[in-house]
Amino acid sequence: MSEILLDVQGLKKDFRIDGKHILKAVDDVSFTIRRGETLGMVGESGCGKTTVGRTLLRIYEPDGGKISFDGKDISKISKRQEKELTKKMQMIYQDPYASLNSFYTVEDIIGEGLDIHKLYETKAERRERIIELLNVVGLHRDHMNRFPHEFSGGQRQRIGIARALAVNPEFIVCDEAISALDVSIQAQVINMLTKLQKDRNLTYLFIAHDLSMVRYISDNIAVMYMGKIVEYGPTNEVYLHPMHPYTRGLLEAVPVANPDYTKIHKKTPMIGEVTSPINPKPGCRFASRCPVVMDVCRTTDPHMTESENGHKTCCHKYR
Ligand SMILES: Nc1ncnc2c1ncn2[C@@H]1O[C@H](COP(=O)(O)OP(=O)(O)OP(=O)(O)O)[C@@H](O)[C@H]1O
Ligand SMILES: [Mg+2]
Repeated sequence: MSEILLDVQGLKKDFRIDGKHILKAVDDVSFTIRRGETLGMVGESGCGKTTVGRTLLRIYEPDGGKISFDGKDISKISKRQEKELTKKMQMIYQDPYASLNSFYTVEDIIGEGLDIHKLYETKAERRERIIELLNVVGLHRDHMNRFPHEFSGGQRQRIGIARALAVNPEFIVCDEAISALDVSIQAQVINMLTKLQKDRNLTYLFIAHDLSMVRYISDNIAVMYMGKIVEYGPTNEVYLHPMHPYTRGLLEAVPVANPDYTKIHKKTPMIGEVTSPINPKPGCRFASRCPVVMDVCRTTDPHMTESENGHKTCCHKYR
């Protein structure tokens, strides 16, 4: 088993709304990712996935908890250390069009990281590096002088990946990196990310809102609901033996993701109102929508309980 690259314990990130209300976007989240592996993080819009990613990359300051990267505590670091970290940790975004500067050529978009971290000696070397990166992501050297709007969605995502790879990172947050693409293109990008991972021993946090594609790239899956991880485990475990009623709901929402599961289990639809993450009430945050809710769920926060092989869930049914 390989070493742990990222160790996150009790991570918290709050946002202050209108000066007085506190929105607990990430509330006591813990997970680890081993070097060369992928953690798939899924959950509905607003559950806090992007906030987790941005806090790991220190775009946001964490409000609590500890983040260790390669054995070093990075929860509280200086500006200089932050710059070093941006070389090791990169992000790929959902909408490459919005995240790529439309006035820059592909050469300058990919070259920016090389410039910031001074990763070349001569102009020729910079160009050489950029051509090599274009090659790696399946684009052509002739694409160098073009602008983002001249590319298809899938090609733009490749440019975003080349930009992330330019600084030779160890860890990449793929934030809904394939969500905006057609299904056939999604598979191509997943295959490319998988190959890059093998070739470069990359570690990924792969964020998605549903369970359709994450299965093909993730070693482990974390399911988030309203700022918390409600289920965590090896990918096949989570797909075949989901424990949390919310995970079951997500699996039923995308039957193609898991035909085996739909054959074995009967439907337990999610009903009721989504509660607010602003000043949340005590008790399980999923209680208002849970098809198997009990009295205790409305009063007491459930804790994570672990069964064998690292499969965990945060649900009173499993106490
Ligand atoms: N900068 C911010 N200021 C205030 N609230 C924020 C900020 N960023 C996120 N939030 C809130 O925090 C919660 C989590 O947001 P986040 O973007 O992390 O969710 P997400 O799971 O990535 O959703 P999506 O699937 O839509 O991308 C949401 O309720 C959101 O409105
Ligand atoms: Mg998001």
